[in-house]
This record gives sequence, structure tokens and C-alpha cells, in this order.
Amino acid sequence: MINLHDIRYARLGTSDLEAAITFATDIVGLQLVAREGKSAYFRSDRATVRGDTRDHTLVYFEGDPADHTIGIDLLDPDDLDALGAALEREGRPVHRGTRAECDARRTRDFIATTDPSGNQIEFLARPFNSGVRFTPGRDIMIDNFSHVGMFSTDPKRDTAFWTRLLNARVSDWLGDATFLRINTVHHSVVLMPSTRPGIQHINHQVEDIDDVMRSYYWLKQQGVKIVYGPGRHPISTAIMVYFEGPDGMVYEYSVGVKHILPEQEATYRPRQFTLEGYNGDMWGSFAETEGLPREPAAARRMRLVV
Ligand SMILES: [Fe+2]
Repeated sequence: MINLHDIRYARLGTSDLEAAITFATDIVGLQLVAREGKSAYFRSDRATVRGDTRDHTLVYFEGDPADHTIGIDLLDPDDLDALGAALEREGRPVHRGTRAECDARRTRDFIATTDPSGNQIEFLARPFNSGVRFTPGRDIMIDNFSHVGMFSTDPKRDTAFWTRLLNARVSDWLGDATFLRINTVHHSVVLMPSTRPGIQHINHQVEDIDDVMRSYYWLKQQGVKIVYGPGRHPISTAIMVYFEGPDGMVYEYSVGVKHILPEQEATYRPRQFTLEGYNGDMWGSFAETEGLPREPAAARRMRLVV
């Protein structure tokens, strides 16, 4: 069985690299650490929180805004060959990273593939860490890059890809959306039903509720579109706010995500939540973007009557 260790990065194409850099640093609060050719690298990890810092956790590159990739490292880097063979047996594409591609991803080795929906995933062996201290791009205490929501054309099929092949565990379901964990964090990847693949949102954990609420007001004052929250997810217990970035990408800040500890693994059972009110946000907000719980028409009608 192949075991995953941690989500490492998201790579996003953009038609306007300068605008994406400005947003990632001045608005999201990431740190620009490198520019190479048509790519920009950002960091987000506080060593005091994670115990380490990933070399980078986000890359914007000049390219198709629909071109999204996530990187995840293997618990045992020597499993890379076995993973390649397993992917081939499943009929998935397998591309072994060239030296130049490895250098661009700051890793010793990797395999690029896709899930059955067509989401681009890179499995990394020995990705680089860094001893350089993270300095946020604005006044916000970002702790780390924590998870992505990914669109799926068939969450049940794609869940099997993650659980059978990669030993991910289902933490919970919200409607048909599946929350998957690969370590103690409640979810590193969420599969959200859609008609297309791609990254739906990128989450950063922040230090406390003040970072969420201060960001909510500050983002609105900057003219950034808030698309969900502020609120609290009952599923993960995290307090959150979601906002829209370049090319329609959604960013999330949250604090307090639930962990499922090793001693709880044997007895933990995933829970099913419906998409009804208060199940996505127990404070009552609904999302204004695809993939997250939208306000049902019935609730809207009821509110009009009241
Ligand atoms: Fe999230």
C-alpha cells in the first residue's frame, strides 16, 4: 500500500502573472520567494506551527488559467516506482519528472498523473524544505497551506482512486462532496461534484479568529469579493472565510481544523451531512461560488415570505 505524507503545493496557470503575484502577496499575504522565467514561487509555512517549512506552497506560472496541478509527497520516497506501476495498472498516465521538471518543483523526483476526472496530480519523492523563515506579505498570521478543494466529475469514482490506490481515508461527506485525509488533518483534499476538473479552492490556516474576521473586513475594504462566510464548518469545526482571486480561483482562510489522531483512526467513521442550511456553515451563510453549499431556492423563498 502506498502512503501519502502531506500536500505540498498548488500550481496555477495565469494569463496575468504580475496581477497574480500582487494578489498572492498583497492580498492573500503569502511571501514571494523566487521568480524563475515565467513562474513565481510563494511560501506560507510558519516553522513554529508545522515544525518545518516547505520550500514553496504555491506557484503561479504564465499559462492557461484552467491549468491546475497539486503536489503531494510520499511517506516513503522509495515507493515512487511502485506507485508508477500501480497507476499504470489502473490505466492512469504516468510521466516521470525530467531533471529540469524536478528542479522547477524543488524535488528529487516525481511522477505526474491524473485522477479519473482529469485532475493533474504530482506525487513527489523528497521535495525540498527550507530553513528560511516565512514572512507574510501583509499583516496576517498565516500558519500554513493546508488543503485544496478539487472538482470531480464523479466523486465516488475518484474517492476510490484516492482510497484504494493511495490509502487516503474518507473523513466525511457533505452532499456528494468527499473530504479525504492523508495524515491527521481532517482533509487535505476535498472532491466536489462538477462537470469539469480543476482546483476549486486553496486553503491557508491562520493563527486565530481575529485573522479571519480582520481579513473579512479588510478584504471587503480592498474590493475583494467574499464568496462564503465568515462562518464555521460543522464538519471540520474550522472558522472560515472564502474570497475570490485571479482567474476566479477561490482562497480560504480558516482556523481550528479538526485532526483525527492515530489512536482515533481505528474507530473513526465518516459522517454524512446533507446540503441543507447550517451543514456547510453553522452560522448560516451560503456560498456564492461553484462547489460549495449554495442557498437552496426554498430557503430563499421562505426568507421572502418572512
Ligand atoms: Fe476548505
